[in-house]
Amino acid sequence: MRDIEIERLSGTVGAVVHGVDLTKPLVNSTFDTILEAWHDHSLLVFRDQNLEPNDHIAFARRFGEIEIHVLKANLMPEHPEILLSSNRKKPDGKRIGRAYNGEYWHSDGAYLPAPSKASLLYGIEIPVGYGDTMFASTNAAYEALSQPYKNLLDGLTCAHEFHQVYRTNKDRLAEFKVSAEESEYTNSPITIHPATHTHPETKRRALFVDPNFATGFPELEPGESDALLAFLRNHVTRPAFTYRHRWQPNDLLLWDNRSLVHAAIVDYDDTMPRYLHRVTVAGQPPQR
Ligand code: SIN
Repeated sequence: MRDIEIERLSGTVGAVVHGVDLTKPLVNSTFDTILEAWHDHSLLVFRDQNLEPNDHIAFARRFGEIEIHVLKANLMPEHPEILLSSNRKKPDGKRIGRAYNGEYWHSDGAYLPAPSKASLLYGIEIPVGYGDTMFASTNAAYEALSQPYKNLLDGLTCAHEFHQVYRTNKDRLAEFKVSAEESEYTNSPITIHPATHTHPETKRRALFVDPNFATGFPELEPGESDALLAFLRNHVTRPAFTYRHRWQPNDLLLWDNRSLVHAAIVDYDDTMPRYLHRVTVAGQPPQR
């Protein structure tokens, strides 16, 4: 096997990890190199992996406890750790998984009391040249703010709610608001997080204002809160803080929800099948 090599993908987000076969057990020194690269780049890309569900789940477990996704109808029956993400339909016309998942800037589980730590998304069927995924660094976005803005945000909390996705993306998501589990979860309670947090491992500070699930800052007047939210949604996705991933089949992406937001680009339709498996690792409540 080649030695492990890390190749940077952009100024703020992402690196490719060369020389690793994730179907094989990883020795601790290799895993430590992966962990260090993940902390440095927030997103790692492993190309040409031939992962069975058990390989995918076993690698995810190295990062912590697996989180079972709230949308139970979209879990793989034999492996509920895996969320099926696909626009494919079964012969009865039903989708095989969650179609057009994540078509908005967000971090996974931002609406949970303990938001998701890591997400591992494995591409199985990819429409060539379509369905890229974008990432933006919430560390870089925080660090680029002026000191008075940092001071303001460091003193605020921010409310998050799963249902907000249906308010801000009403037309586009209408088709998907179907399952009982989903409508149950879309009535989920509001969760209050600090508006900025310290990454528990890197100690870098980052925004924790989800562009999609955040509903406002309870300490501010409604007009102030709306204006700040609109500014931050725009600010966090400035081109300099982003990386756009062009998928190849058999890519495994590992990203850190504590330092990134991401968005799936839906520039494809039902005539262009896209099929991915996602495993998510549980996190801790964000801390200032
Ligand atoms: C997600 O938000 O997990 C989906 C990303 C993608 O399918 O590109």
